[in-house]
Amino acid sequence: MIALGSDHGGFALKQEIIKYLEDNKLEYKDYGCYDENSCDYPQYAKAVANAIVSGECDKGILVCGTGIGISIAANKVKGIRAAVCTDCFTAEATRQHNNANVLALGGRVVGAGLALKIVDTFLNTEFSNDERHIRRISQIED
Ligand code: RB5
Repeated sequence: MIALGSDHGGFALKQEIIKYLEDNKLEYKDYGCYDENSCDYPQYAKAVANAIVSGECDKGILVCGTGIGISIAANKVKGIRAAVCTDCFTAEATRQHNNANVLALGGRVVGAGLALKIVDTFLNTEFSNDERHIRRISQIED
């Protein structure tokens, strides 16, 4: 189950992501926002982060205008490793090296075409399970 969240700046791109997930028969839960009215991204970051640390969802995708504010907020929750990605290389690397559990995107930064490639890469890349990466992630957790 994939947890989704956005503010108004990411709402339109989140709708494109929802279409991608539905087309690919991937289960998701949308934690809001639900329209383009101005709203505050920390509450949606928190809802998605909590859904992941509670085990209700496996991964999350957060979208705000830049991806930055919403990722900063999500990373305040212990156990969350949210990565802002603007290209497929970093989306792949953050799964392999950081075992990132949240992808953050900027709805005002990347177009839908690239964003969906990034989502696809993020969802389909496994953690390397390499000892050095496990050690570094443990150091973050500590
Ligand atoms: C909202 O205008 C904007 O500040 C927000 O979407 C995000 O870009 C913050 O980092």
